[in-house]
Amino acid sequence: MGQELRDRDYAPLRLEEIQRGLVTERLGKKIHYLPEVDSTNLYARNLAEEGGLEGEVVIAESQSRGKGRLGRSWVSPPCLNLYLSVILRPKLPPLHAPQITLMAAVALAETVQCFIPLPTEIKWPNDILVGGKKLAGILTESSCDPGKILFVILGIGVNLNFSKELMPEAIRESATSIMALTGKPVNRSEFTLRLIQNLDRCYGELEEEGFSFLAKRWAGFFRLKGKRVRVQMLEQAILGKAMGIDIDGALILEDERGFVQRIVAGEVIPMEA
Ligand code: BTN
Repeated sequence: MGQELRDRDYAPLRLEEIQRGLVTERLGKKIHYLPEVDSTNLYARNLAEEGGLEGEVVIAESQSRGKGRLGRSWVSPPCLNLYLSVILRPKLPPLHAPQITLMAAVALAETVQCFIPLPTEIKWPNDILVGGKKLAGILTESSCDPGKILFVILGIGVNLNFSKELMPEAIRESATSIMALTGKPVNRSEFTLRLIQNLDRCYGELEEEGFSFLAKRWAGFFRLKGKRVRVQMLEQAILGKAMGIDIDGALILEDERGFVQRIVAGEVIPMEA
């Protein structure tokens, strides 16, 4: 597939165009746009700690210390992809904070579907895969008082015009990008606008209707239902059949003895195609 990038494809995001196009209730009224930052999640956390408002968005063209889940890093070269964080102040009990990741996964998967003609998959809890390869990741970090969420930083990284040649060897096999999948560079400003718009809609649905309103759509993107998986946790791994998620966002697994287990954190590895 031809994947030639012209100079304009490396161009910075068109912030004005994004702001002009947004019709949202909560997100993106204020966008902090940075050519470079250590991590948009760190930047957004500092803003939130100093009183940053719900819905403020941080976007950077590159990150020098992009953070992934489980202490990993997120490869963040300039002007090719999307690195975005949002400050949220949800009216949810802390126990339900994982619903923010699930909500964001639905918004992200629905956005990706508008740009590629291939099935999009949510890999619990925070990955978006296409063709079995990772296209995007979500990192949510919360700050809570007893019984109350003070804020959640919702961080999203999406590989947009990242060519296979430019990907570091460590991720070349396991990662993909919209351009690698379609053969054409994607308009990053348009993708960013759609994503913020969809996040605003899904977050509104979560706040007003509750997670059950989004659960069916989440399940539509969860392609491991009924499949054998291995769930790697910090100190142990469990084999079993993935059944879906519960209202708190935990993965429901039927283990090899037929017992139903609730997994709140871990890495899911499919055992069959
Ligand atoms: C993962 O899949 O491990 C989560 C990756 C999250 C990456 C994004 S990029 C924007 C935001 N800022 C960060 O430092 N990380 C998230």
